[in-house]
Amino acid sequence: MATTKQPRKRGEGQWALGYYEPLNPAERAKRDDDGLHVRARIETTYSRNGFRSIDKTDLRSRFRWWGLYTQRRQGVPGGATATAEPHELEDEFFMLRVRIPGGRLTGDQLRAIAWVSERFGRDVADVTDRQNVQLHWIRIEDVPRIWEALEGVGLSTQEACGDTPRVMLGCPLAGVDAHEILDATPALIECERRFVGDPAFSNLPRKYKTSISGCRQQCAQHEINDLSFVGVERPDATVGFDVWIGGGLSTSPHLAQRLGVFVEPDLVPDVWAAVTGTFRDYGYRRARNHARLKFLVADKGVGWFREVMEEEYLGYALPDGAAPPPSPTAQRDHAGVFEQHDGRSYVGFAPRAGRIAGHQLRHVADLADRYGDGRVRATTQQKLVILGVPSEHVGPLVSALEDEDLRVHPSAFRKGLMACTGIEFCKLALVETKGRAMWLVHELEERMPGFDEDVRIHVNGCPNSCARFQTADIGLMGAVQPRPDGTRGESFLVHLGGGLGADGGFARKVRGVRVFAEDTVDYVEMLLTRYTHRKGSHATFNAFVRSLSDEQLAEFARWR
Ligand code: HEM
Ligand code: SF4
Repeated sequence: MATTKQPRKRGEGQWALGYYEPLNPAERAKRDDDGLHVRARIETTYSRNGFRSIDKTDLRSRFRWWGLYTQRRQGVPGGATATAEPHELEDEFFMLRVRIPGGRLTGDQLRAIAWVSERFGRDVADVTDRQNVQLHWIRIEDVPRIWEALEGVGLSTQEACGDTPRVMLGCPLAGVDAHEILDATPALIECERRFVGDPAFSNLPRKYKTSISGCRQQCAQHEINDLSFVGVERPDATVGFDVWIGGGLSTSPHLAQRLGVFVEPDLVPDVWAAVTGTFRDYGYRRARNHARLKFLVADKGVGWFREVMEEEYLGYALPDGAAPPPSPTAQRDHAGVFEQHDGRSYVGFAPRAGRIAGHQLRHVADLADRYGDGRVRATTQQKLVILGVPSEHVGPLVSALEDEDLRVHPSAFRKGLMACTGIEFCKLALVETKGRAMWLVHELEERMPGFDEDVRIHVNGCPNSCARFQTADIGLMGAVQPRPDGTRGESFLVHLGGGLGADGGFARKVRGVRVFAEDTVDYVEMLLTRYTHRKGSHATFNAFVRSLSDEQLAEFARWR
């Protein structure tokens, strides 16, 4: 008799379904010892006995639980990334990610980061697109002294990387913005205090990104985080949060979906724990590239997720809630001088592609003390903001920042620029990014001085999308591609018309176009020139690109 045998669905390694046996090396490392425990070994053994003494599983897995990754060995080309052995790619130096919840910094905290960068990190620092600062060139011998310095001012590197609750994003203007729905800071701080370092959440299936913001502009990227609380005002004028889950970029981008609930501000930590517990236990642990919350949500749906979360974790049902209106300014860059709710100003400025020197950070801290109220905030666009500046101090502060090449009034190109770490330090990179992004902006400023429309160019070293190429007007994704002469060269694949907020939607890949790295400036100049000639009544680059059919897009963006 013929049987219609269904192929058996492979288990996804979900704990809640009884799959506790680790299905890959990363899961085994976490099962064998909690990543958080590696700190003791760093303090007592590795920092004393040096790089060679480090256990390889600690080095390549658990170190992340304390914000440490080995950086790429200098000079290893992008063509070797896919084939090289780990020891060939990794250097004996580390990058160290400093966790800055909500991007909130005091002058003393910024000075501590600056000191670490200058003293131990060759004066390099990167302001990241998740409101952190990432340092490089760190030696294992120096890590305990670095922790002492950072923790002395209330900063930490705990769970800055790894399969953990990464830094929680917030509005950089929380508490000072004149138009915010509510100040989400207490909820954000409480979630960080309660859950970061809690062993109940230190072994998640994969990295886990949270955003908690009460501002109307929604620049804390709720659409592309795993769990987001978005400020909302109800018809009766009570305020609280709308909850979104399952967003994320990388090679399989997903926009978050609404759970459809209303959460009162005081309940945010409990709901955070319930959602995260559901992910911990039901999340997929078989394949690393299929483990983020977005895959579970896409498979099971938000209805299923809400039911399990409420019944098994929270213990009660949340009221239904409506969505806040999408923001037309979700990707605002914060560069410039703007008024706060108390009549003073905040002053936002743009380093180049997030790269800044340690000594400049110290200078920024001093300027914030001298001209502002001492507070500095990091944005989600690799920019910084100084708060609390009385009107008579605005002029001198702006001049002092501009003198340091920290532009308060940047060109459209610098304003919209982001770049990931790239081949300089990242072991997954295929191409150079930060230096090339700076060159790109410099050249565009020279060649197109009159161009003043907002246009966001995001330069990425590989498909992982740390600098979010899918949400840029012009998203460049690094690749190594064959040249006509048979050699292989650094190049970019082009994605156009991405955005968040009211402008939302992932960028469209331009088929058949690859731009070799040396041609990047010519290509982007050509795109923007074509756009200027053809845009007609379209107000933005994005709107214009969205109006094109696939054939028109291919024609618009063709190259050689
Ligand atoms: C499978 C590996 C990786 C994936 C899928 C990945 C993906 C991402 C994504 C999607 C973001 C977030 C952008 C956003 O939401 O705003 C991000 C942030 C970032 N990534 Fe990666 N990334 C990976 C590995 C790395 C490595 C090895 C480095 C090493 C230098 C790196 C450096 C960064 C930095 C500096 C940020 C800013 C984030 C922060 O402050 O937390 N990434 N990554
Ligand atoms: S996008 Fe790729 S190259 Fe850039 S930092 Fe992320 S993993 Fe590295």
